[in-house]
Amino acid sequence: MAILTDVLLWLHLLGVAMGVGGGIAMSRVAPKVIAAPAGERAQLWPLEKFLARVIAAGLGILLITGPLMLWLKFGGGAGLGWSFWAKMAFVAATTLGVGLGQWAGARLERGNENAAKLMSLSGPLTGISAVLAMLFAVITFN
Ligand code: HEM
Repeated sequence: MAILTDVLLWLHLLGVAMGVGGGIAMSRVAPKVIAAPAGERAQLWPLEKFLARVIAAGLGILLITGPLMLWLKFGGGAGLGWSFWAKMAFVAATTLGVGLGQWAGARLERGNENAAKLMSLSGPLTGISAVLAMLFAVITFN
């Protein structure tokens, strides 16, 4: 079982790396997409979408491996204390931020300029929530 849970933690940390790496790159690319005139936007979308996919895949890995570790290593979330629930709250906020970013990005690509504001909001929401989820993960599990 130790090997399985080691692999799950390794994947969990890879998920963190994908989210953080993709997110930092996205913090430079998304503002450029928003500011660019329509013609130039077309050239930036493939990079934006690639980064969005890396971020979503990282989050997906976290949301799959986390509950599996919880079940296999800790027998569920009960008894882990307040910091675990603080982590879960920031995981929910991170998931909301990623979802909002994907939704707003798709709307902007369809030409809805109002979506740019939501896209700009989703980045800091995701980044701040993810950093706090990591803090409470360390407080809980170390
Ligand atoms: C945004 C999503 C998430 C982030 C950024 C995140 C981050 C982290 C980090 C940095 C650690 C390492 C902490 C340490 O070893 O001290 C960790 C461990 C852990 N996470 Fe997450 N996590 C996320 C989602 C989840 C979810 C949804 C669950 C379960 C419902 C979960 C359950 C766990 C468990 C059980 C560990 C401990 C693994 C161990 O020590 O063996 N995580 N997480």
